Amino acid sequence: MNSTPKKLFVRSYGCQMNVYDAQRMADALAPEGYVETASADDADLVILNTCHIREKAAEKVYSELGRMRELRTERKANGGGDLTIAVAGCVAQAEGAEIMKRARGVDLVVGPQSYHRLPDLLAKAKTGKVVDTDFPVEDKFAALPAASREKTLARGPAAFLTVQEGCDKFCTFCVVPYTRGAEVSRSVAQIVAEAERLADHGVREISLLGQNVNAFHGEGPDGKVWGLGRLLERIAKIPGVARLRYTTSHPRDMDDELIAAHRDLKELMPYLHLPVQSGSDRILGMMNRGHTAADYLKLIDRIRAAQPDLALSSDFITGFPGETDEDFEATMDLVRKVGFASTFSFKYSARPGTPAADMDAQVPEQVRSMRLYALQALLEEQRQAFNASCVGREMDVLFDRKGRHDGQVAGRSPYLQPVQVEADGIGIGDVVTVRILSNGTNSLFGEPVDTAARTNSRMEAVA
Ligand code: 5AD
Ligand code: SF4
Repeated sequence: MNSTPKKLFVRSYGCQMNVYDAQRMADALAPEGYVETASADDADLVILNTCHIREKAAEKVYSELGRMRELRTERKANGGGDLTIAVAGCVAQAEGAEIMKRARGVDLVVGPQSYHRLPDLLAKAKTGKVVDTDFPVEDKFAALPAASREKTLARGPAAFLTVQEGCDKFCTFCVVPYTRGAEVSRSVAQIVAEAERLADHGVREISLLGQNVNAFHGEGPDGKVWGLGRLLERIAKIPGVARLRYTTSHPRDMDDELIAAHRDLKELMPYLHLPVQSGSDRILGMMNRGHTAADYLKLIDRIRAAQPDLALSSDFITGFPGETDEDFEATMDLVRKVGFASTFSFKYSARPGTPAADMDAQVPEQVRSMRLYALQALLEEQRQAFNASCVGREMDVLFDRKGRHDGQVAGRSPYLQPVQVEADGIGIGDVVTVRILSNGTNSLFGEPVDTAARTNSRMEAVA
């Protein structure tokens, strides 16, 4: 290992999978002497971990690359050290060598399947530009080193764990099947080993990640294929794991075992992100979603029958090609019927290479925006109503960071709402029962119910 540490700055865009990947890239580079830094200004290596899902996200990368190149020039002019610039993530995968052409100054382009090769790729990049967007045969996960205990502790008591990557659904608007490739699941043994290590390092909550996580079909220790429900049940048995979540799911892959897990596993949080995208059967058909609005509503009924205390979340797209006012009304209708606790909504963004980008009747930008505003107003009303319904209730909060003010600690409710509490002696990593007293714009505020009931496996006392 090098005696003077080199500094690494990873900027992640997009989804939680990129947050996880950023951590694994840092883990892969730790044996090379890289330590993480919070800003590009003092970094020796900058990795932009990019997102390709919508045009806006993808375009951001190029302006950021321009800034990085300026930083390097400035630094050289001031007699400073070199700066290596790398592009990772889905834009790297989708645009590969194009990035080198469009953004001079990039040293390395690395796709998500090659992060375990980062040390070698960086060595090669010293003598010339390198692009690696392969889908290698070797097992990336097996080759990636694990995080040290200190690193895991620094990342907090709620951790991500990727169990599956890629997607075979081919929704007509989506680039994921092209950027992340076909659906691949990790083995149960490998996932359990990673979860055990996280728990051993003090992690209390694990969110299982996958582009299509409930399509998980990993090899079980019994040689049979396990689904996500069984995997959750297995991970729930690991000592120290107090909470489990999973994201992102497809309605077609909510099988009976997974629904039963919502009924049976106290560790599985009563929160589900289940994207529906649209409430119009015609649009759902054109999106190639493989389900109707009625299928979705029926499914929600079944999940709510298994776990009545469930906060629902979803993704929506407004202005998909051919969407009429009537189609949009059907989406509003579905939202009214379901009642969502928190959601993500986007106006349709045509992505090159996807079937929807070539469809006739692209909806004008202004209409896409107007519909998005109307939808978001309704969704915000529902979010506020859900938050208001929590006032007066008692719920367990996992505290994962200091609050904004001295003496304040912040955490997450079972429903993923941020909760702020003013109390002494609550540690990061504690799960404490909190009475919700009020409802702010973005957080709930509460007080601990019974200080003695607190679990004591904190990661770090709050000063
Ligand atoms: N335009 C707008 N939103 C999109 N999403 C995926 N592709 C597009 C696109 N081309 C949204 C979907 C998906 C979420 C991650 O991003 O709602 O569920
Ligand atoms: Fe994209 Fe999700 Fe559809 Fe897969 S299921 S194609 S990731 S929107």
